[in-house]
Amino acid sequence: MNRALGVCYYPEHWPEEMWAEDARRMVGAGLSWVRIGEFAWSRLEPEPGALDFGWMDRAIDLLGAAGLKVVLGTPTATPPRWMLDRHPDMLARDAEGRVRGFGSRRHYCFAHQGYRAESRRITALLAERYGANPHVAAWQTDNEYGCHDTTVSYSDAARDAFRDWLAQRYQSPDALNRAWGNVFWSMEYGAFDAVDLPNLTVTEANPAHRLAFRRFASDMVRDFNAEQVRIIRAHSDAPIAHNYMGRVTEFDHFAVGADLDIASWDSYPLGFLEDRVGDGPAHQRRHARTGDPDFQAFHHDLYRAVGRGRWWVMEQQPGPVNWAPVNPAPLPGMVRLWTWEAFAHGAETVCYFRWRQAPFAQEQMHAGLLRPDSADAPAMAEARRVADEMTALPEGGAETAPVALVFDYESCWAWEIQPQGAGFDHFRLVFETYRACRALGLDIDILPPDAAPGDGHRLVLVPGLFRADAARMARWVESGAVCLFGPRFASKTDDFAIPVPLPPAIPGLDVTVAHVETFRADSPRPLAGGGAVRHWLEALETTAPVIEATEEGAPVLVGAGRLQYLAGWPDEAAFARILTALCEKAGVETRVLPEGVRTRTHAGHRFTFNHGPEPREVDGGTLPPAGVCWTPLG
Ligand code: GAL
Repeated sequence: MNRALGVCYYPEHWPEEMWAEDARRMVGAGLSWVRIGEFAWSRLEPEPGALDFGWMDRAIDLLGAAGLKVVLGTPTATPPRWMLDRHPDMLARDAEGRVRGFGSRRHYCFAHQGYRAESRRITALLAERYGANPHVAAWQTDNEYGCHDTTVSYSDAARDAFRDWLAQRYQSPDALNRAWGNVFWSMEYGAFDAVDLPNLTVTEANPAHRLAFRRFASDMVRDFNAEQVRIIRAHSDAPIAHNYMGRVTEFDHFAVGADLDIASWDSYPLGFLEDRVGDGPAHQRRHARTGDPDFQAFHHDLYRAVGRGRWWVMEQQPGPVNWAPVNPAPLPGMVRLWTWEAFAHGAETVCYFRWRQAPFAQEQMHAGLLRPDSADAPAMAEARRVADEMTALPEGGAETAPVALVFDYESCWAWEIQPQGAGFDHFRLVFETYRACRALGLDIDILPPDAAPGDGHRLVLVPGLFRADAARMARWVESGAVCLFGPRFASKTDDFAIPVPLPPAIPGLDVTVAHVETFRADSPRPLAGGGAVRHWLEALETTAPVIEATEEGAPVLVGAGRLQYLAGWPDEAAFARILTALCEKAGVETRVLPEGVRTRTHAGHRFTFNHGPEPREVDGGTLPPAGVCWTPLG
């Protein structure tokens, strides 16, 4: 698969006379893909049933004739205003019951059957017209499912569909009552139609009820997407992608990805640093112009798993964005670094968002490759440089990293519903595990919870996994890899109850969690070997050897043979020590990288990136801030 660059373009934003020159400049900059169409519904169908595809025909022809391949988006993230006259109840409602109105985007409820039919209709119109068009070389469904908190809706449509979903899953109200433990607080239901959504209750709703609703909401996204995919596939052989987001965990991306050919995501490193990474002000100050050193790489590896090996960056931040609390310009060189980092993690294509900065509407302060006056913006030169450099490097195939890390969307929902102590968050726990591995120079594959580790995975990490049946357990335990489970591993049943015998019940490892305590973020429990655990500590009953303990002598890491159990959430120092020892056991080489420096092996080379604001000495040379280098593996 050839590496390629591309750009997001909105022909409908510009006079048609500008298109040819735009296309010529795109090709001149070394770009080969152009994504269009994903918000264009009001121009494709200005009035209900009155179609105007002529301009889109001409845009695709012109871009294609210039030598560009088109990614065509379905426009369902932005239903036009007239849609509300047809389906006044299609809008989502938030948890307080307030309508999420028209005037921006993503104003639809995934469960609304009328809107689902509209989504199928417009998708079919596009697929029939362009499915055989030689210039349409890939498709994108909708745009960023779940962005702006749009997965979960508390509308009447969602309530009705949830009742159907419950009836299918539980078959009888009695079975539902038993599964959820509704005898508690007299919450028993006599009919599925009596079950409401778990919002607007006096105090917290039953966690089993809440989890069922979150599973339902995730299934609605999967189904919405699958309907579009089915229609496009009937008319086109081109691969189909969706563009996911950073740290959006409200739907199961593995489930959505199973219906698609390519996973892609939208990478805004500086925007995310402020509003999603979750570290304090010192970290934000330090990385204000370079972004977090691990957040992008984590998502590259996550979406490589979601795409079963095929993934892109569909939108790459090119300069200041408009939507974070503050919006600095990337340090010169970072756009090139981010692009190369994506390629080093196996991306097929990186597209910049967007071609020309729009002088109007919500994103008028968002940079593009061109300024509003069409002069080059700073990122253009960096994109051109990557395009020149790309040809010099061999292409890479799929390679297995030595470390596998399990990430699970359902666990995100479960621990959000029941954190038990402030700060227990599945994404954050997995991300900190990832970061600690990367600081040791490790390459990582992220695995969905139901995937078996590959032959090359010598160390498997399973932090904070909500549930594990015998089949899941067996895949890890019998893989032959060194495995680290916990904290909070397999601690609930499918329906959110504590299993008996008590967890984690790992075959071959005698350890039982007797009880759990959580504590304040400012009161970590120091470990005898240095560092500490934070947020969470399980009291273990075990005959296994104790590897790490608190200063007071409570076991924190226990293990025998290849299987180890972790009872708390380690801080940076404790994680580094624990992972170094595990790697040694697994025969995986580690090294301690200078702060802000990260590596990744790909295509027979080791890539090294400096995400910090100071120059760093690495491998006998100096890497400047925003520096990237690659050397052939010995
Ligand atoms: C993405 C979105 C784009 C654009 C961009 C701005 O989340 O897909 O349409 O809004 O953000 O940074």
